[in-house]
Amino acid sequence: MEYPNPESQSATLAARARHVLPDGNSRTTIALKPYPIYIESAAGAEVIDVDGNHYIDFNNNYTSLLHGHCFEPVTRAVESQLTKATACSFTTVAEIELAELLCDRVESFEKIRFCNSGSEAVMNMLKAARAFTGRPKVAKIEGLYHGSYDFAEVSLKNRPEDRKGLVPRSTPYSFGTPDSVLHEVIPLPFNEAEVTEAIVEQHADSLACIMIDLMPQTLSMSSPSAEYLSTLARLANQYNILLAFDEVISFRLGYSGGQGMFGLKPDITSLGKIIGGGFPVGAIAGRADIMSVFEPGADGIARLPHGGTFNGNPITMAAGKAAMSAMDVEKFNQLNALGDQLREETASTLADLNMPGQVIGKGSLFAVRFHDRPMDNFADILVRDDERVFMEHLRNYLIGNGIWIGSNMAGCLSTATTEDHIDKFCKTLSAGIEACKESFPAN
Ligand SMILES: Cc1ncc(COP(=O)(O)O)c(C=O)c1O
Repeated sequence: MEYPNPESQSATLAARARHVLPDGNSRTTIALKPYPIYIESAAGAEVIDVDGNHYIDFNNNYTSLLHGHCFEPVTRAVESQLTKATACSFTTVAEIELAELLCDRVESFEKIRFCNSGSEAVMNMLKAARAFTGRPKVAKIEGLYHGSYDFAEVSLKNRPEDRKGLVPRSTPYSFGTPDSVLHEVIPLPFNEAEVTEAIVEQHADSLACIMIDLMPQTLSMSSPSAEYLSTLARLANQYNILLAFDEVISFRLGYSGGQGMFGLKPDITSLGKIIGGGFPVGAIAGRADIMSVFEPGADGIARLPHGGTFNGNPITMAAGKAAMSAMDVEKFNQLNALGDQLREETASTLADLNMPGQVIGKGSLFAVRFHDRPMDNFADILVRDDERVFMEHLRNYLIGNGIWIGSNMAGCLSTATTEDHIDKFCKTLSAGIEACKESFPAN
């Protein structure tokens, strides 16, 4: 097997797709140069493409598959729901069951509301914060990805030069973002508690919420420091600003999500990915008084009306319940222990090669980096241009040798991952670094 291969069926399909789909697909995050790979089937931790190549999946649809592909309890639940109802303008028991399961597990989830993606969840979390507090602005951490709502995208692309001193500028991500959006989003510098405090104080009266992700992919899975998180919680409490966690990814860190692992209690949380059992999903969960913005008032109108043709879709609800029920505390501990094993073995693979490098992450999430810089401030965490080039070469090598991992060399495990898969990952990584060493970044 070889990637890229202009003779492959994937290359032919990509050429056909480009006639009708911009860049040949519907999802920026799966674009692969020179062409995306087309999948025939997948089961457990393994995927087979249309050319018959096999891959061990360390991406799991960008962390959403907690059990890998076609997990039997999920396929059974979906099959059963398929013949009952697939979408209807009624509510279903399946929705109550998933809501109860999630609210039972997480202390801060007094009520929950479903939607169809993590982006929608973040959008509605920010709108709920505005509707509840009556304040127009939201604060987010510079450089963090929260999906495709334009308010959530502000300052995603920032580099260290997009700061005045340590104060980040509000910058657009998509062309055409209105200036009014930039004005309403206050970016905060990651892990810089003192500067963050000064910025929040300056905007305190108009801030509805401070949003953060406990395991940000765009910052190489480096968690915010405990000091930084406690500063955010203190400021939120002091100024009646809502503390909003984006747990679209970090919820897979444990039975009570990232907030359980870090021992924190936000006011409101956005969810997605794993809670849909592999189907499109999002949710907003939090304090009952905040969640009441979704309830009609005396005039029959909610402070935050929230329609959605597929919200609480019964197929997704049934799949989500099957996937989440199969994960008790012990199962999360086992999965996280496998994550520890991958991080340890990858670190010793890098050490054996005598090359600078490190592996970051927690639980079942990890990222590999090819330098020895400490990973605690924004400038040092950002991937440099030469590192990006090397990672692209290495990723193509890994794909060509049966390892599927995200373009930023970030990955995750599922309950279908085995020790053999980890062994193959480390061996292939080692061979790949050797094969691509001409482009190894200067350290
Ligand atoms: C932290 C975070 N928030 C929100 C989103 C958006 O979720 P979705 O892709 O389901 O819209 C993502 C997607 O990767 C994410 O990583």
